[in-house]
Amino acid sequence: MIGNKGTAKERAARAGAELVESGMVVGLGSGSTSALMVGFLGQRVRELGLAIMAVATSEATAQMAREAGIPLLELDEVSGLDISLDGADEIDGQFAMIKGLGGALLREKIVAAASRRRVTLITAEKRVTQLGLVCPLPIEVSRFGLVHTERGLKRLGAETKIRRKGSELILTDGGNCIIDCEFAGIPDPAGLDPRVQGLPGVLETGLFVGLCDTLIIGSADRVEHIEVDRQGRRASD
Ligand code: A5P
Repeated sequence: MIGNKGTAKERAARAGAELVESGMVVGLGSGSTSALMVGFLGQRVRELGLAIMAVATSEATAQMAREAGIPLLELDEVSGLDISLDGADEIDGQFAMIKGLGGALLREKIVAAASRRRVTLITAEKRVTQLGLVCPLPIEVSRFGLVHTERGLKRLGAETKIRRKGSELILTDGGNCIIDCEFAGIPDPAGLDPRVQGLPGVLETGLFVGLCDTLIIGSADRVEHIEVDRQGRRASD
């Protein structure tokens, strides 16, 4: 086992990498916590000779995995994944999450849905009583009809901001746009998600409901593992 040193984020990332066993097909998330996890996983592949294959949720993660010596597959080359490891932006008491501040939400959700065990790696401040009070909800939308889709989101009560760098649209790996939506709190993520998904032009939302089976929380001096049941309840300590 690799030593339990480092920052809170490193602790969570390392604990995630340690769940991976030889023979597994692994989903690799995106974002800074996932980047650390990919580094630790690569170390395990090299030092322990772990025989794994992985599917990346973004081009950035794929590049990091190649550099770390982790062999990659396309998602459609496998019938399913044994485990996926990814970060989150917020997680509530029922283990519903906001993801996508890094812009990889569509691929992250497809990979999570294809995985038997979904592991979320966070630091303690990402646990919230209610989603969306601080963090906007990223929504991936078609570039075609962007402003019409934005109007639809406003009609659902969101304050919207199309993601741009200067005057240029920021595009996802799939060539789509992101609209960050502030709902002033999301008390019912499972209720809001289908309403947003029902708008023409919306490709995916950053609401991940029922997609966390194990939560790993890194803090200054420890790592906590929480198993979650299919009803979004804590199954064990
Ligand atoms: C990427 O699109 C996101 O869903 C990330 O998983 C999420 O933003 C967490 O990122 P950090 O690990 O960088 O906080």
